Amino acid sequence: MNISLDKAALLLKEGHVVAVPTETVYGLAASIASPRAIEAIFALKKRPQDNPLIIHVESIEQILPYVKEVPFCFDALAEAFWPGPLTMIIPIIPSAIPSNVRAGLMTAGFRIPSHPSARQLLKAVGPLAMPSANLSGRPSATSADHVHEDFGVDFPVLEGSVSDHGVESTILYYKEGEWMVARLGALPPEEIEKILGYVPPIIEKGKKVICPGQQYRHYAPKAKLLMDGKSLYAVDCLVGFGDRQYPEGKRVVAWGVSTDAKEVAANLYAVLRKLDQEGVQAAWVDMDFPKEGLWITIAERLHRAAVSS
Ligand code: TXA
Ligand code: MG
Repeated sequence: MNISLDKAALLLKEGHVVAVPTETVYGLAASIASPRAIEAIFALKKRPQDNPLIIHVESIEQILPYVKEVPFCFDALAEAFWPGPLTMIIPIIPSAIPSNVRAGLMTAGFRIPSHPSARQLLKAVGPLAMPSANLSGRPSATSADHVHEDFGVDFPVLEGSVSDHGVESTILYYKEGEWMVARLGALPPEEIEKILGYVPPIIEKGKKVICPGQQYRHYAPKAKLLMDGKSLYAVDCLVGFGDRQYPEGKRVVAWGVSTDAKEVAANLYAVLRKLDQEGVQAAWVDMDFPKEGLWITIAERLHRAAVSS
């Protein structure tokens, strides 16, 4: 069910959960002032309790009451990339933020989204906790239809345009004077380098877990995703580029052209969801693209989506 801004604001103020379009992916929103709604988010998504939520705000001023001190370069990063697809995880004053929002951690992630509908809602309601609006482990939602697929057609979704980026925000994590990439996302590290003066190191898998959400299987369709050359001939369905030739007789689901990472990112989750809508059991994925910029995020999402459960 698509709902108006007024209705969404009312539901949130009454302690309900509402799905909200953002420029990255759709979010499942609860007022951080409503412990009941925060609990409902975890239950709806079937999300493990140890996986904290990002707090979305409308301005930097709204973050200040939660932090003891603003980290080095925080203002410069905010100035460069907010509103937009960057989340910054920073130390907070624990008593200022309900424990279940931050999963008991002494830090919290903040983002100012740029999507006009999300902005207006934040203006009307105040800070909102918003994980991606998908069942835990599933591909994120980039349209109202995706939200309804996971949570039912009656689930309230704030009306607004679909997500432009189509992949989640890049998460920067601040510790002891250094910024690190805790999750690759819509904002490539090369862009961040222009502000920090160094490419923020990517926290590698297998090292100490920084973002609890990163340790789970994620972004995954029910269809098995295969990437090796041999599988190309073994399956009937291929996911690939509209400007490439593939073996005849195979069904090709195209996610865009091979020269446009933005287009592929924007279509990525819709394509993964389409495989399930069409009952595809296994699909071969064309991973032949540059390993730079936004392509690295696309590759990371696909590798995680391909992990068997
Ligand atoms: O683009 C996005 O970031 C979307 C839209 C809705 O804003 N949100 C999103 O939220 O992707 P979610 O919950 O699906 O992913 C948030 C990630 C999780 O991996 C979580 O573990 C991590 O951020 N995270 C949040 N707060 C954290 C904290 N205080 N410390 C470490 N990791 C944190
Ligand atoms: Mg998510």
